[in-house]
Amino acid sequence: MKRNIIITGGAGFIGSHVVRLFVNKYPQYRIINVDKLTYAGNLLNLKDIEGRPNYSFVKADICDFDTMLSLVKDNSVDGIIHLAAESHVDRSIRDPFTFARTNVLGTLSLLQAAKAVWEPMGWKSAGGQECRFYHISTDEVYGALEMDGGFFTEDRAYQPHSPYSASKASSDHFVRAYHDTYGMPTVVTNCSNNYGPNQFPEKLIPLFINNIRHRRPLPVYGKGENVRDWLYVVDHARAIDLIFHEGAVAETYNIGGCNEWKNIDLVRLLIKVTDRLLGRPEGADDDLITYVKDRAGHDLRYAIDASKLQRELGWKPSLDFEEGLEKTVRWYLENQDWLDGVTSGAYMDYYQKMYGSR
Ligand code: NAD
Ligand code: DAU
Repeated sequence: MKRNIIITGGAGFIGSHVVRLFVNKYPQYRIINVDKLTYAGNLLNLKDIEGRPNYSFVKADICDFDTMLSLVKDNSVDGIIHLAAESHVDRSIRDPFTFARTNVLGTLSLLQAAKAVWEPMGWKSAGGQECRFYHISTDEVYGALEMDGGFFTEDRAYQPHSPYSASKASSDHFVRAYHDTYGMPTVVTNCSNNYGPNQFPEKLIPLFINNIRHRRPLPVYGKGENVRDWLYVVDHARAIDLIFHEGAVAETYNIGGCNEWKNIDLVRLLIKVTDRLLGRPEGADDDLITYVKDRAGHDLRYAIDASKLQRELGWKPSLDFEEGLEKTVRWYLENQDWLDGVTSGAYMDYYQKMYGSR
């Protein structure tokens, strides 16, 4: 079956793994990566698939409705996998407007463009394929759990605390409203913290690997007691592939690693693995841990119940955490050019060389 699929945010961390998986696995599909290339977008993440006949890149802002409309119409797009977003909680605390613009208005612009093209065709492509709008969301929309507070299930009421999670919650509501009001075939997933190659080093794991490498302080917020549920990014991409093809219309699926770590325990493990791979003696960098002022509104604990996805579609994570973390640390240490390019901002020149001004 031929399909024309837009993946938004494909130059970012998770998006680049999703684009790679689809381009490699489905040579019969046409994959169009639509990305604005903000500070978080990096085409070097996709260097290995550049030039493939079933792949193209379009630099565009999802808030630009006219461009989204022509992209969906002119390419006979029948599937949208929407990852483009502002994604960093600390940035959202400093600059909430940018988050509302991209995460809320950008999602709305994309929904409206898809509706304008798909609704007159009865939500089907010319070849009879049912169209699909797949929105990628986060577990943060559910709010925070107590330490012994059970798990997030799909029917839990939303209770976002940060401007980031509030903007994602709003976009999730718009996606569901487009199903309930207009009949758009939608699906939403809420995933826990991802880790792995190509994550921008403002997020905990790559930031700390880079700091250990340079023997810089590791700023642990508060007492390091907060808990996150970590999933290897390629396992998230595998879940997205499965749900895009087999998930039921209008459903929500939680995706998570069933892998909770207190931040401070994770940081200690990270130091141990990184030091071992750098050939430094055990304990050499423990004194880099520096407790700093807590993040405002810092959610205590996230923990996903992913049993619906396992039961209904047979998905489960393929890597255990120790294996995934070692693989990840190894990747950052073996790809220091990538890390240095991102931290110096030099990665932004790549687009200019390939496509003109950025
Ligand atoms: P990221 O910040 O690494 O990448 C976001 C991408 O979106 C970048 O390439 C950026 O250029 C692009 N983008 C931003 N604004 C845009 C705009 N206005 N128009 C077009 N493109 C734009 O993010 P990520 O960590 O890969 O997250 C991807 C998605 O997954 C987000 O929707 C996020 O909310 C969700 N999510 C992330 C995690 C996680 O742990 N990272 C977990 C669950 C869900
Ligand atoms: O849960 C899914 C979410 O995971 C995604 O929706 C977000 O896009 C993604 O950024 C991530 O959010 P977090 O805020 O959980 O990730 P971050 O890596 O920023 O922080 C992880 C934990 O580590 C969190 O409790 C805050 C803490 N932290 C983070 C940084 C950057 C520190 O203690 N020090 C730091 O310097």
